[in-house]
Amino acid sequence: MKILVIHGPNLQLLGSRQPSVYGTADLESINRGLRTLATARGAIVMTVQSNHEGEIVELIGKAKGRYDGLLINPAAYTHTSIAIRDAVEAAGLPVVEVHLSNIYSREPFRHQSLIVPVCRGQVCGFGPASYHLGLEALLSLLGRPDAPAAAPRRTVPNVRAARRRTP
Ligand code: DQA
Repeated sequence: MKILVIHGPNLQLLGSRQPSVYGTADLESINRGLRTLATARGAIVMTVQSNHEGEIVELIGKAKGRYDGLLINPAAYTHTSIAIRDAVEAAGLPVVEVHLSNIYSREPFRHQSLIVPVCRGQVCGFGPASYHLGLEALLSLLGRPDAPAAAPRRTVPNVRAARRRTP
């Protein structure tokens, strides 16, 4: 099992960036932890960090055929990038989104992820453990190829049709 781990913008600053929000572990120690966990599970992880949306799109685009799954912390692009969302959707690989912080308990602009609807799932709020839990989830999915592909998409209720049906 080969997993690509993508860290988005500003995550190279972990350790010194807002430790009260993101903790004190730096990116290298998170990557080390992921490599150790992967080895224990008989998997391999490659890790990459990029501050550039286009570069992340290209990494995702080249992942098919080279990796079995992706673990991604899109960082600020989580909330803005249709390009990364489209790349994830097009890749057709299982993808798990992770965040160190609980994005739903922070500023309203962080409450929406444009990426997660095309991922298999999301783990957030556990600091570096979010990555570990995300990797465990991804490896478990890959070990069960018959697992449901994705949660059903939320549909907007057809209010007019519902009203017409009301006696
Ligand atoms: C983050 C949360 C994002 O909202 C933020 O822009 C980040 C880090 C996290 O891991 O908690 O850069 O993805």
